[in-house]
Amino acid sequence: MIKEFFSMKKQILVTGGTGYIGSHTVVELQQEGFDVVIVDNLSNSKIEVLDSIEKISGIRPAFENFDLADATKTDEFFAKYTNVEAIIHFAASKAVGESVELPLLYYRNNLCSLMNLMECMKKYEVKNLVFSSSCTVYGQPDVLPVTEETPRKDAESPYGNTKRICEDIISDTVSANPELNGIALRYFNPIGAHESALIGEFPTGVPNNLVPFITQTAAGIREQLSVFGDDYDTADGSCIRDFINVVDLAKAHVVAIKRQLEGNCKANYEVFNLGTGNGSSVLELINAFEKSTGVKLNYKIVERRAGDIEKIYANTTYANEELGWKAEKGLEETLLTAWNWEKNIRGIK
Ligand code: UD1
Repeated sequence: MIKEFFSMKKQILVTGGTGYIGSHTVVELQQEGFDVVIVDNLSNSKIEVLDSIEKISGIRPAFENFDLADATKTDEFFAKYTNVEAIIHFAASKAVGESVELPLLYYRNNLCSLMNLMECMKKYEVKNLVFSSSCTVYGQPDVLPVTEETPRKDAESPYGNTKRICEDIISDTVSANPELNGIALRYFNPIGAHESALIGEFPTGVPNNLVPFITQTAAGIREQLSVFGDDYDTADGSCIRDFINVVDLAKAHVVAIKRQLEGNCKANYEVFNLGTGNGSSVLELINAFEKSTGVKLNYKIVERRAGDIEKIYANTTYANEELGWKAEKGLEETLLTAWNWEKNIRGIK
């Protein structure tokens, strides 16, 4: 019994663990000695991701396929998995345009799943939650770069609003239940793939996000990349984002989980910006892609996309100092990992 206790690894629930950021985080957790159980309804990911995770880490994570918006199934999960010590909650719908068309779907998926999880955290005494938030909560900030103190603004889309409301649900719930800890990680623009090229971003249908559209264009799946606007108030007229390597981002989740498990949180609700601190324009990113891969991209400038923010990038001082974490990978090497992943899934040599 005692031996069993000491040899038992801490179990982490990763919701959305077969998805893009989730799968990279699962690998990093496993490599740091954590036992991972994934819950995913496979609405935007493939079951084969489990094989790829196993190829990288040598460990197949436990997996349960159900929808966390289902309160009964969520409760049954925690009744079965009694060793869960912390949750990283990625599972959510994330297409900005779709959220404008189907707001109720977004509110139901993203809010109900979080509330079901938090009910179970109370009932089953799971103390720690790390939440996948977004820099979208800042809107177009008045001052750049954005710190964690930068005021949040009204969301531009139902998707963005769910991130803001979820942050509030967590902060209110941990304040009413001081035994619980919540950390919201506000991601800037995650890009790239694992260096093994075994896991990466796998968008269904036409990609909304820039880098998958670029790699699919380079692979010949899309004829042309549209650059949405070159008349913004930036040096080259295209929008500016803080593009962060997905493995760097995944590592920050491991740090956040350890912070909670080791009792190092400064408050029971904390917020961190996860970015590189560098703003790059869309056109700069295209140049960096061409330079690092040697592939010429067919692109044209078109109208601005509705709802786009002109420029945003992170002040990373607080995350760097408080978490002891820093994004390390550069833009060109990151874009090369995205391209290697695309080549791998399309069978391009
Ligand atoms: C958006 C969301 C963000 C969300 C993320 C993931 C907003 C303001 N941002 O980020 O919260 O977490 O998606 O889904 O809602 N671009 C092109 N051509 C393309 C695609 C994109 O020029 O084909 C440009 C966009 O205009 C933008 C930049 O590339 O300037 C990045 O776009 P994208 O990858 O979609 O991310 P965000 O809109 O920044």
